[in-house]
Amino acid sequence: MTSTQWSPESWRKKPAKQLPSYKDGALLKQTENELKKFPPLVFAGEARDLQSRLGNVARGNGFLLQGGDCAESFAEFNANKIRDTFRALLQMAVVMTYAGSMPIVKVGRMAGQFAKPRSSDNETQGDITLPSYRGDCVNSLDFTEEAREPDPRRMISAYNQAAATLNLLRAFATGGYANLNKVSQWNLDFVADSPLGERYEALATQISDALNFMRACGITAENVPTIKKTNFYTSHEALLLPYEESLTRQDSLTGDWYDTSAHFLWIGARTHQLENAQVEFARGIKNPIGLKCSPAIGTDELLRLIETLNPDNIPGRLTLIARMGYEQVEEKLAPLVRAVKSEGRSVVWSCDPMHGNTIKSSSGFKTRPFDNVLAEVRGFFAVHKAEGTHPGGVHIEMTGQNVTECVGGAEAIGDEDLSSRYHTHCDPRLNANQALEMAFLIADELKNIRREPEKEKDFTTAQW
Ligand code: PEP
Ligand code: CO
Repeated sequence: MTSTQWSPESWRKKPAKQLPSYKDGALLKQTENELKKFPPLVFAGEARDLQSRLGNVARGNGFLLQGGDCAESFAEFNANKIRDTFRALLQMAVVMTYAGSMPIVKVGRMAGQFAKPRSSDNETQGDITLPSYRGDCVNSLDFTEEAREPDPRRMISAYNQAAATLNLLRAFATGGYANLNKVSQWNLDFVADSPLGERYEALATQISDALNFMRACGITAENVPTIKKTNFYTSHEALLLPYEESLTRQDSLTGDWYDTSAHFLWIGARTHQLENAQVEFARGIKNPIGLKCSPAIGTDELLRLIETLNPDNIPGRLTLIARMGYEQVEEKLAPLVRAVKSEGRSVVWSCDPMHGNTIKSSSGFKTRPFDNVLAEVRGFFAVHKAEGTHPGGVHIEMTGQNVTECVGGAEAIGDEDLSSRYHTHCDPRLNANQALEMAFLIADELKNIRREPEKEKDFTTAQW
C-alpha cells in the first residue's frame, strides 16, 4: 500500500520502471542540486487555475484539448516550430469553441515533454545493440554508444529549453497573437490551400462577423480582454523523477507541494503501478494530474488508483486519458466509465486516439492510420453517450509542421509518402491539416451534446 507519508523524494523508496541508470552518480546529484536552485517554470496559482477549469470540464461544462509533440527535441528547437504548433492548437480550439459551442481548455504537450518510456530497454540495428533512446532529457537519438549513454546534464538543457518555450507561449497567449480578431491569420500556409483550410476560412469569416456584431454593440477587445488573450497551459509525462522532484516546490501561499516543471503532469501507461515510484510522486503534488488508461488496466485497479490519486474526489484533479485503440475502445472503455460513475468519482475523461493505433507500415515507418484515429474518437463519444457521461477531452500527438507521419486524411497521405517528411523523434504525429480535420469532427460531436436540452451547460466562468 502507499504510505501516508509523502515528500518530493518519497518515490525513491518505491520500485521504479523506465528510469535511466546514470553511470556518474555524483554528477547526477550535482545536477539535481543545481535544478533545485533554478526558478520554478510555472506558478502554483496557475496550476490551481487550470484545475478549476478542468473541474468545469469534469462537470460537463467544457472540453480539454491537449496536444503537441510525442517528444520535443533539442535539435528542432526554434521559434517557428513553437509558433506553428501553438497556432494549430488555436485553430483547433477556435473550431471546437465556435462550431461545438463549448469552452475549450488548452494544454500543450510542450515546454517539457522530453522523457520517453520505451517498450524495450535496448534497440538493435544490424548486429549492434545499444540502450534505447529515452528522450532528449536522458540521451540522444543518434545510434552510437556515446549518444545513448544517459547524461544527467541533459536535464539542465531540458529545463532551459522548457523555460524559453514557455516564455514564448506566454507571449503568444497574452500578447495579442491569440486575439480572436486574428482568427483568419492562424491558417498556416500549407493548410490554407487545402479543403480543410477553406472550411476553416469559412468559419473564420463567421467568427469575424460575430465579432463585428459584438463590436457594434460595444463589446470589444478593449473592454472585454478575454477576446484578445487566451489561457494556455503546459504538460508532460511525469516520468523522469529526478528532474520532477528537483522542480517540486512548496507553495508559499498554501504550503502545498507543486511540481513547477509544468501546469499538468500525467502518469504514462507503462508506469501506473500503484506500488511504484511515478504514482507515489504524482499522488503528493497538487497540480492537476492525468493517468493514461490502456486496455491492460482493470476496473478494480483503476478505482484503487483513483482513490490514491484523488482521495478527496476534487473535480479537475484527475484526468483519465483512455488510449484503447479504435477496435477496443467501446469494449474496454465502457466498463471503466460505468465503474467510475457508479462509485461517484469525479474525473475528466479524455481520449488519446494515438497510442492504441500505432502500426508499422509496409515501408517500415511507425505510423497511425488517420481513419483509425478518428474511429477511436467517435467510439469514445459513443461510449459516453451510451453511459450518460461527459466526453471531456482529447489528447493528441500533433505538430504545426507539414509532416507526413500518419497515413490518410484529406490529403490522402500514403505509405509511399511517409519518407518525404517524417521528422518525429518518437511517435508519428498528426500534421496541422489532420489536426484541423479532427477538430471539425469533435466540434460536430460537441454540437450534438449541446443539442440535448436536459444537459443545460453552465459557462459563467468560461473564457476564450
Ligand atoms: C505518450 O503519451 O507519448 C506515451 C508514451 O503514451 P502511453 O504512456 O499512453 O503509451
Ligand atoms: Co507518443
